[in-house]
Amino acid sequence: MKKEMKTIGVLTSGGDAPGMNAAVRAVVRTAICKGIRVKGIMHGYSGLLNEEIEDMDARSVSDTISRGGTILYTARCEEFKQEEYQDKAAEICKKHEIDGLVVIGGDGSFRGAQTLATRGINTIGVPGTIDLDIACTDYTIGFDTAVNTAVEAIDRIRDTSTSHERVSVIEVMGRHAGYIALWCGIANGAEDILLPEKHNYDADKLMKHIVDNRKQGKRHHIIVNAEGIGHSEEMAKRIQEETGIAARATILGHIQRGGNPTATDRVRGSVMGAFAVDLFCEGKSNRVVAYKDGKYVDFDMEEALAMKKDLPEYVYQVSRYLTI
Ligand code: ADP
Ligand code: F6P
Repeated sequence: MKKEMKTIGVLTSGGDAPGMNAAVRAVVRTAICKGIRVKGIMHGYSGLLNEEIEDMDARSVSDTISRGGTILYTARCEEFKQEEYQDKAAEICKKHEIDGLVVIGGDGSFRGAQTLATRGINTIGVPGTIDLDIACTDYTIGFDTAVNTAVEAIDRIRDTSTSHERVSVIEVMGRHAGYIALWCGIANGAEDILLPEKHNYDADKLMKHIVDNRKQGKRHHIIVNAEGIGHSEEMAKRIQEETGIAARATILGHIQRGGNPTATDRVRGSVMGAFAVDLFCEGKSNRVVAYKDGKYVDFDMEEALAMKKDLPEYVYQVSRYLTI
């Protein structure tokens, strides 16, 4: 029989994402409703190794639902990839009587959670990343806010681009994934969308597209370039040299990670945080919370990490119709 859950730990890890606070708040308050104590671990795995562990109550998460970032702070902790530190972290969880650990982060953070699971720590992963690059889920906490922030910024660039009749290369985040770029490309009505999954940066085709559009009377040319393709500054320089049309690059950067979460990120973040606690209460562990086909579900962590994710082909096709 499974051991009763008395204390749950919660941490955020990897890149912060708007809506992580909603998930932390839901973990804390759902656990309290079920008579479970909660310990907040600061600075992700780095704080776990340094025993930055604090008791949390319902008031610890007051006034956090609308705030971006993460009140638990976050970190990328290279040393945690070594077995010696994973052993140490598992011992620390046991010492603090943490019966289950909720890890809110991306797939790197889940790999870290798995190393603890193999050392006898119950873990549940909650997908928190603006990149939307976790295969088992259609939604990750923070993507919606990041896309809306980027769309608003690109609208502003479009105004000045049109006024000066320039080409604008706008680089959006996403690490190796093109979801933010694809969504912005469609939402901002970009003339070109460059995506790492499609390897679709062809300099000659791009130049021709720019020149043809100009001949047809288009006053601007917005290129949404995914971080996974990168080199936006060089791209703009080359466009200006080869087409004779003024071009500028803007790298949106961390503006996409901050800001108040949208209602979607607040609500889904809240449900996912509560769902993680409910999974523990049902005696489940080593699972990843997901939102799939409109439902909240869970997957085995190892299976979830082995899944592959592709861009939605039909949406990509639509983006191609719309950029003519
Ligand atoms: P994300 O969780 O957003 O994908 P990272 O890939 O940077 O972000 O991972 C966050 C942290 O998770 C890393 O800094 C590291 O501490 C831990 N981590 C990542 N990959 C592994 C791994 N293979 N084994 C153990 N820990 C890992
Ligand atoms: O994973 C989120 C993300 O913002 C990626 O889109 C980006 O590649 C990376 O993190 C940037 O990381 P950092 O904030 O450490 O520079």
